[in-house]
Amino acid sequence: MADVAIAGGGIIGLSIAFELASRGASVRVYDSAEPARAASWAAAGMLAPLTERLADDAMQALCEASLRRYPAFASAIANAGGVDPYLSLDGILHTAYDDASLERLAARGAALEAAGHRATLLERAETLLAEPALGKHVRGALLVEGEGQIDNRRLGRALAAACRARGVRIHTGIEHLRIECDARRVLGVRSSAGYDPAGAIVNAAGAWAAQLEGVPQNCVPTVRPVKGQMLAIEIPKGFMRHTIWVPGGYLVPRRDGRLLVGATVEEAGYDARVTSGGIASLLRAALDAAPALSAFSVSETWAGLRPGTPDERPYVCATPLHGYYLAAGHYRNGILLAPETATLVAGMVEGAAAGPPSFTLERFSTKARSA
Ligand code: GLY
Repeated sequence: MADVAIAGGGIIGLSIAFELASRGASVRVYDSAEPARAASWAAAGMLAPLTERLADDAMQALCEASLRRYPAFASAIANAGGVDPYLSLDGILHTAYDDASLERLAARGAALEAAGHRATLLERAETLLAEPALGKHVRGALLVEGEGQIDNRRLGRALAAACRARGVRIHTGIEHLRIECDARRVLGVRSSAGYDPAGAIVNAAGAWAAQLEGVPQNCVPTVRPVKGQMLAIEIPKGFMRHTIWVPGGYLVPRRDGRLLVGATVEEAGYDARVTSGGIASLLRAALDAAPALSAFSVSETWAGLRPGTPDERPYVCATPLHGYYLAAGHYRNGILLAPETATLVAGMVEGAAAGPPSFTLERFSTKARSA
């Protein structure tokens, strides 16, 4: 297999590196910072294809396929690198604050059951039995089974360790990364670290994917940053058990005693500052759901940049430039989509296949749109 260069050491780039290296490829990863420190660090790690509102059936199928891969993916990484990324798939609770919302949840539950998933509608008393910290607004909830979360910061560390154990070279602090190519195919990558020849290059640069230098114009993806602010509250052990979807946000309890509260969705360019308005809206959502949180300390606030695309689907594809692949634009579902993206891209690099049509560059071409 060709030597592979991956631009971007986030969870998508590292997952592809791990998969390719496990198949015997020689892989280098290039990042301007430490691995998994951008959106991969900022995320909440929710694995929720049935909870997130996804763009369409193709995106739904991709996300569900990726969730099915997660248990094997997480244990392969833990075994290779020795860091457990704390996968937990014990369901996501959706709360309703009034009868109309509860009726919508009941209909959603019935639709999920009809599609072969498991979802249980809970009355208020049952909801409080599952999550005693929820407050007076909560009228009931839907427990969507099989979904959950992974500690994405641990996953980043686990993936970096697993990649290194497979011989992947991770270059950090890289500046001026550009691809070198001739009219037909990629030749290598040039950067502050020098020149490395490569038979295949994967762009996994997240919200910066459109800015990789040296790429022919017809291979540049349309990706923009979509800011998300988050905060963490220190909670006592057992205070909250499930990942909970509440009006105005979501609550994600970690094993280390932090409750993550997310997230805003803002078009703010590359401005990743935390704002008082953003944090106020998250705290309002959290305290409306569980007023007892007001006694606990806020230990961290942060913001990250999701890689958004015009149709909210990622690019997971080959391009007109032979040997150049895109794995970018995963928007709200980058952590979830890592295993499936890695499998698809590794298959493309190995077999030079184009990838599923819904995730190509060509879907935005005039011809594709008028078909
Ligand atoms: N997946 C949740 C978010 O992007 O906020």
